[in-house]
Amino acid sequence: MSSLAFIGAGYVGLVTGLGFASLGHDVTISDIDGDRIDRLEAGEVPFYEPGLAELLQRTRSEGRVRFTRSNLDAVGSVDAVFICVNTPDRGDGTADISAVERVLAEVAPRLDGDQILVIKSTVPPGTTQRTIQELAQRGLPVAVVGVPEFLREGRALGDFLAPDRIVIGGDDPEAVTRMATMHEGFDAPVVTTSATSAEMIKYASNAYLATRLTFVNGLANLCEAVGADIVDVTRGIGLDERIGSRFLRPGPGYGGSCFPKDTVALVRVADDAGYDFALLRAVIDADHEQRRALVSKVREGAGGTLEGVRVALWGVTFKANTDDTRNSPAIRLGRLLVAEGADVVAHDPHGSTDEFTMVDDPLDALEDAQVLLVATEWGMYAGIPAPEIAKAMKGDTVVDARNVLDPTAIGAAGLVYRGLGRA
Ligand code: NAD
Ligand code: UGA
Repeated sequence: MSSLAFIGAGYVGLVTGLGFASLGHDVTISDIDGDRIDRLEAGEVPFYEPGLAELLQRTRSEGRVRFTRSNLDAVGSVDAVFICVNTPDRGDGTADISAVERVLAEVAPRLDGDQILVIKSTVPPGTTQRTIQELAQRGLPVAVVGVPEFLREGRALGDFLAPDRIVIGGDDPEAVTRMATMHEGFDAPVVTTSATSAEMIKYASNAYLATRLTFVNGLANLCEAVGADIVDVTRGIGLDERIGSRFLRPGPGYGGSCFPKDTVALVRVADDAGYDFALLRAVIDADHEQRRALVSKVREGAGGTLEGVRVALWGVTFKANTDDTRNSPAIRLGRLLVAEGADVVAHDPHGSTDEFTMVDDPLDALEDAQVLLVATEWGMYAGIPAPEIAKAMKGDTVVDARNVLDPTAIGAAGLVYRGLGRA
């Protein structure tokens, strides 16, 4: 078993750190956010992720994990240091890797030749190779590899324990082999490659998935226009093994902390390399259009204008089973409605935002509402009886941007159901 440090106690650092601790490794996790470290030391998980609180409790009681505000304290004599800090959109589409660079500048001079520095954060192709060259030029002996992360929020522990693959990129064969050995507890194929290809695999995976979803959203819109049903169509195409049935649910466009930033970043990477990635640009445009089309449905349901109209928004997180609202399509939808004069009252079982009035009960959001917009696929919404929805709201239109409600039951309750691509 190894001694490992994880820098950044966010979704990736905390999940992978506690995950490695649960496999028997000795783990130290650091973060510059002192409040976050205090909460973790008190046994509290700073965000909602199913199973993580139990894992924190177990690994702490086994003495396998400790937390610190100091990155230098964390890296001491460990075998490998995993950099898991955030790499957000800089605002112009390019990835802001300054947090990774700060950590590298801080810890690399303190590491010796036996320690491996692992870049787990998503960084543009070429970043790790450049880092390797810069550290070599400065005479620092540390080996650097890229091990991108593919977990999903909401099912992060399952994804950590049963990954589809492990990707290890680097040009130091000994470091790559040692990293592969540290991942021996996983029953997954290991792809060893150059650092740049590893980075490309991460961006390509997210960009492909975003493209697939956007294609499905387009199909749903077309289904509506020709009278087909997207649920049947996706079942039919998904049975083709080359296509597969997962990740085919239409929705209000993709959100979260990664698809939006990684798709635009890849377009920028392509631009910088002299390649016009027109397909991916079209995907990004179509994704924005998906929400504008949904707003049109809400506007029609409100009688042609949203000025002064109350809209109930069910869901503010970017998907179900997380409290993460970063780049949430639900919030983006709400903003578009507010921009047209609507009064948005929102509910979410785990997430929150100060952009709209939030209520604790989904039925309370319906009071005086002309339209109900379901924006996040929380299971609890499917369980609310249609007659209760009809009784609580003022208007009669339900726009279901996640296809979670039962159209027949909604219709039988005297409401007008408008889903995505449903006949
Ligand atoms: P996050 O924002 O949840 O967490 C990042 C953490 O790093 C924060 O707690 C922050 O305080 C800390 N941090 C920032 N600078 C630091 C520093 N100098 N020293 C110590 N700690 C520092 O981010 P995340 O969602 O975990 O994502 C991290 C990286 O992993 C990103 O590159 C992201 O693209 C990638 N990724 C994220 C996911 C996901 O599902 N969220 C999945 C795969 C890959
Ligand atoms: C995504 C990837 O799935 C992970 O593999 C990757 O590690 C991660 O990004 C990352 O790099 O951060 P995540 O953002 O947690 O994970 O969420 P997903 O489950 O992929 O959903 C992304 C968006 O697509 C959400 O808004 C979701 O509602 C939407 N979606 C997903 C659909 O609209 N339909 C689907 O069938 C699936």
